[in-house]
Amino acid sequence: MNWPVWSLPSAMGQPGFQSVSGYSACPTVHRDGTLAEYVAMEARNLAPLPGDVDFTVGASLPISGLTAWQGLFQHGRLQAGQSVLAHGAAGAVGSIVAQLAREAGAYVIGTGRAADRQKALDFGVNEFVDLGNDTLEDIGGVDLVFDVIGGDIQRRSAALIRVGGTLVTVVGPTDVRPVDGLTVDFVVEADRAQLSELVQRIRDGRLRTNIGKVSSLDDAVETFNSTERRSGKTVIRIRP
Ligand SMILES: NC(=O)c1ccc[n+]([C@@H]2O[C@H](COP(=O)([O-])OP(=O)(O)OC[C@H]3O[C@@H](n4cnc5c(N)ncnc54)[C@H](OP(=O)(O)O)[C@@H]3O)[C@@H](O)[C@H]2O)c1
Repeated sequence: MNWPVWSLPSAMGQPGFQSVSGYSACPTVHRDGTLAEYVAMEARNLAPLPGDVDFTVGASLPISGLTAWQGLFQHGRLQAGQSVLAHGAAGAVGSIVAQLAREAGAYVIGTGRAADRQKALDFGVNEFVDLGNDTLEDIGGVDLVFDVIGGDIQRRSAALIRVGGTLVTVVGPTDVRPVDGLTVDFVVEADRAQLSELVQRIRDGRLRTNIGKVSSLDDAVETFNSTERRSGKTVIRIRP
């Protein structure tokens, strides 16, 4: 669970809500997230959730969306015409990486499991590598690897990066370095301007989030403890 907190327009005007006018990906709530009906935070960490964006979509956007945005554009310095290896392209982060990279004019190679192929293609990857059955090395060179998996996949991916390219990873520090390239591991940060860019893309249909299971607060523990495979973001609805 992460920390997307959006203001509820319906709460405006009620005590404690008058000066709050937005949403947030706010890492100050708790590093590993929380579930709460009400949260107090500084207004500067909030940005507006447009009235035409569903709360479930809003909840699914900040972490995955900002992670994808920052990895591609801030840390990866993606340029139009470059190629991106987007791991886990049917997952929450990877599916947004695929869409944003395509929109930015990149050629996107998505990866995942065999069952993820169509979903990744639906999110816009130009081609798909089934990591269980295809040979990753067959894709040739890429300019940017967006890693959400780590381990051996990360190491093999780094070897595919062209001179001057970048390995961006969100699964923690790594010693893996592309030859004559850069490795960046990072943790997503709140950014109101970037969040606004993302939500605008949702509104005009250029971006969609990857929502998996939606549960009630009562079912949250069972949902998080479940061992069944889930594709997409888990969202806990505080109110039905
Ligand atoms: N640093 C940060 O700021 C930051 C921010 C967001 C996320 N993260 C991290 O990034 C990772 C991905 O997050 P997410 O929300 O996108 O997760 P997710 O929705 O589960 O997506 C990951 C995708 O990669 C696939 N995958 C994983 N290992 C694979 C393998 N060996 N072969 C083929 N496919 C594989 C998963 O398939 P299966 O479901 O079948 O495994 C899933 O489709 C997590 O570790 C998360 O903690 C870090």
